[in-house]
Amino acid sequence: MALPAFTFDPHPSPVDADERARLLVDPGFGRVFTDHMVTIRYSSAAGWHDARIGPREPLTIDTATAVLHYAQEIFEGLKAYRLADGGTALFRPERNAARFRDSARRMAMAELPEALFLESIRRLVQTEREWIPTLDGGALYLRPFMIASEVFLGVKPSAEYIFAVIASSVGAYFKGGAPAVSLWISENYTRAAPGGTGAAKCGGNYASSLVAQAEAIRQGCDQVLFLDAAERRWIEELGGMNIFFVFDDGMLATPPLTGTILPGITRDSILRIARDLGFEVREEPYAIDQCRADAESGRLREAFACGTAAVVTPIGRMLSRQGDFTIGGGGPGQTTQRLRQTLVGIQTGVAEDRHGWLERLD
Ligand code: PLP
Ligand code: COI
Repeated sequence: MALPAFTFDPHPSPVDADERARLLVDPGFGRVFTDHMVTIRYSSAAGWHDARIGPREPLTIDTATAVLHYAQEIFEGLKAYRLADGGTALFRPERNAARFRDSARRMAMAELPEALFLESIRRLVQTEREWIPTLDGGALYLRPFMIASEVFLGVKPSAEYIFAVIASSVGAYFKGGAPAVSLWISENYTRAAPGGTGAAKCGGNYASSLVAQAEAIRQGCDQVLFLDAAERRWIEELGGMNIFFVFDDGMLATPPLTGTILPGITRDSILRIARDLGFEVREEPYAIDQCRADAESGRLREAFACGTAAVVTPIGRMLSRQGDFTIGGGGPGQTTQRLRQTLVGIQTGVAEDRHGWLERLD
């Protein structure tokens, strides 16, 4: 089927350059939005149609719209980077396009062709390139998402969808640039069970994680660490990041993709970069009790969280009802810093991109 052509309706009163410069000084994460957005509609009768870049504006939807009741919703997260030479680039966007399709399939939603996903992203970044902050670690965070838009209260896959992409100028995800974050090990709540939606990027996964994240904050931690739902024994991931461990023999490990964790694109990139740098890397289950014992014996030297928003963030401490323990020196470890620097170097065009991950837009 031919892909729909895009129409472009420029914003009649975009944010002026001085105001934008003020907003970009310290944008934080997810609060500063650009002038335009992409929308594409789908119906089972007409397929994908009405592809448009227009002013970012509220969606007007009926109160009986399916997404409001049964949460048939998925999203993605990727960044456009300002390169050292002033150009703009995306990092492995085809992986986000593929994961978006996988998420759609799991949630019984219409599958957006990957070419249309990618064209939406490229066009929006080209329209909004002035919104990429120049500050260190700054980027344009792109948030593609899709909602079930049929007006119907029967419980069934929607026959209509709205796909949209919005863009947000961002700095660091964690406030204050803390040297390392702390994790609350959730014993009451799990994120995903076998056969569930853990590997899909659907809003419901995040809704169900919030009570555990709130508990983590109450316990004085930055993030929640989820264990597997069956045994409450195996480390899975954080609410919005994957996790890695670095051992004293130079080995790296991360939990395997068994269907309950999100297959992170940063996770996949770190696995590759670490192997390229000569590390032995394992994707294998790691029990929380073993993690505690290894931290105490010194076998576990470093741990870090990784994701598009968090990049690579050192983990200094873990806490549960059993008490807390520190990992390594409690701050950023050498291997973590080296991996982060290599990843960011590739993303900003200063390190060799030997796998062809960077897509230059200009
Ligand atoms: N795990 C969860 C639950 C996430 O929300 C994210 C963020 O997207 C990740 C892991 C990391 O994925 P990625 O590296 O593709 O951003
Ligand atoms: C991302 O890293 O892109 C995420 O989606 C994590 C969080 C902001 C939901």
